[in-house]
Amino acid sequence: MNQEVLIKTVSRLLAPPKGILAIDESLSTCNKRFEKLGVPTTEEKRREYRELLVTTPGIEKYISGYILFDETMRQSALDGRSFISILKSKGIEVGIKVDGGTTDFPLHLGEKVTKGIEGLADRLKEYKKLGATFAKWRAIYTVGENTPSHDCMKENAILFAQYALACQRLDIVPIVEPEVLIDGDHDMEKCYKVTLDNLQIVFSELKEAGVFIPGIILKTSMVIPGKDAKVSASNIEIARNTVKCLKEKVPKDIGGIVFLSGGQDDEEATKNLNAMHQMDSLPWPLTFSYGRAIQNGALESWAKDSSDVACAQELLLKAAKDNSLASVGQY
Ligand code: 13P
Repeated sequence: MNQEVLIKTVSRLLAPPKGILAIDESLSTCNKRFEKLGVPTTEEKRREYRELLVTTPGIEKYISGYILFDETMRQSALDGRSFISILKSKGIEVGIKVDGGTTDFPLHLGEKVTKGIEGLADRLKEYKKLGATFAKWRAIYTVGENTPSHDCMKENAILFAQYALACQRLDIVPIVEPEVLIDGDHDMEKCYKVTLDNLQIVFSELKEAGVFIPGIILKTSMVIPGKDAKVSASNIEIARNTVKCLKEKVPKDIGGIVFLSGGQDDEEATKNLNAMHQMDSLPWPLTFSYGRAIQNGALESWAKDSSDVACAQELLLKAAKDNSLASVGQY
């Protein structure tokens, strides 16, 4: 593990006013989004859509890294240039989703653990050869009366630690992504407690396993009411609770923190990040790593008229710019 290399990659990824764009939807997630909009779910259509995301002119002003899915990692633009070489030529870091999705957690109804640890080291070696400098591994937690259970959080945390170590051994920066799902009618206090307990478990496993904390990035959900909650929360309340929770449990020497958008309304995700940066100074770099909140407008526009790539790219650029402004409290 070369700690200097890891720290340098982290600082390139988190240099203000930039954030990370997630375009790492798995085949099934990407196809579901295409189906909803009437787009054929073929490899070529996914390539065409990803080409517009990767080739958007000027996006490198706002985006430091793209997280790709395995299929996208191997695809090329129509002019023959690989997506990886296009991103690198813009100075954008290439990241790769390396988890294999989730599976049922035995004996725990409705709970999930993340798959993909088998053979991970070999896959990472290949991705590194292809040009990846960072990776992502996601675990999900459903908020319910008795969930997430301690056992489920612990199991996922052990996997995070194994994954993070495997990445760092190859000088690949691991993004550790524990996502407390927005589904449900729980209130913000419940989300706060679940996020707090889970972060405690995640960081204690990472530290015990010897993961180099300044060489990782935490990708987290915000502390937010469930999407069917009776009482909503303002941007200021979400910002205050999220930062308080993170300050309690995230080590000060972590490389940095980024947010997923998790199904929030696009603009709310931007406003929440902006509100966090308008508060007191923060102990760690804090920015965005949104998927949907940046892509939604572009995808809808392209689905309606795939010949008007420029329009979709403009929408993508605008969303990236808005979030870049929010990442320095200037939205
Ligand atoms: P969303 O911002 O759409 O939640 O995607 C981020 C991500 O990487 C999910 O794993």
